[in-house]
Amino acid sequence: MVKKMNFEKQFKNYDYNAITQKKVAEKLLTFIDNSEKYDTILELGCGTGVFTKTLCENLKFNHLDLNDIFNTQEFFKDIAYRNFFIENMELLELKKYSLIVSSSAFQWVDDLETLIQKISKNTSQLIFSIYSKGNLIEILNHFGVSLNYKSTNEIYKILKKYYTFVKFQEDEFILEFPTPLKALKHLKETGVTGFSSSSYSLTKSFKSTLLTYKVSYFSCKN
Ligand SMILES: C[S@@+](CC[C@H](N)C(=O)[O-])C[C@H]1O[C@@H](n2cnc3c(N)ncnc32)[C@H](O)[C@@H]1O
Repeated sequence: MVKKMNFEKQFKNYDYNAITQKKVAEKLLTFIDNSEKYDTILELGCGTGVFTKTLCENLKFNHLDLNDIFNTQEFFKDIAYRNFFIENMELLELKKYSLIVSSSAFQWVDDLETLIQKISKNTSQLIFSIYSKGNLIEILNHFGVSLNYKSTNEIYKILKKYYTFVKFQEDEFILEFPTPLKALKHLKETGVTGFSSSSYSLTKSFKSTLLTYKVSYFSCKN
């Protein structure tokens, strides 16, 4: 398994290339009850704010705290947030929140169960999207690299240990590119570059113009 995050270098191109992440963010919002006013919200792995912007436009809340492992605050000039925690979410000390959210970030976590357990002690409502087993299968098949994606069922089983009500949904997006190289460039610009050190011949022999994204959405309540 290769795990190489390259967001920091690519944040400037991220929003343009984050077609899937935008679709995921919009769908994730539909899992949140927007008739409620939330006192405090925490978003983990906020990146450049693809999901944060959707959230701010559609939800009523008093305080919003943001987190990312990189300092991405320059992308949040138009957003009225309270705290920005630059920290690995797995090590972040949490306060109590009315709602904790995360979009397209939990697949990077080393120990999802420990993170969920910590979150469950600090909020009765967790809503997130995560890339799941089968994500970017074309890359795994050709380069033999992948994050350690969990299946929806594996994630569901973890969540049920800490939350009474767990709802989920799965989605698949297949993006088509004019050439295989453009598909690889797209991945590079969205930060996943586990295969960047691959040999030139391996890159050249990549023949797929398709990239398959598998996403799971979860809504958890106690
Ligand atoms: C695919 S991006 C998604 C960003 C944003 N939530 C969106 O919907 O576009 C994943 C983000 O998670 C962040 N990230 C990855 N691992 C992290 C960790 N352990 N703690 C905090 N942030 C993390 C990355 O820096 C990146 O900004």
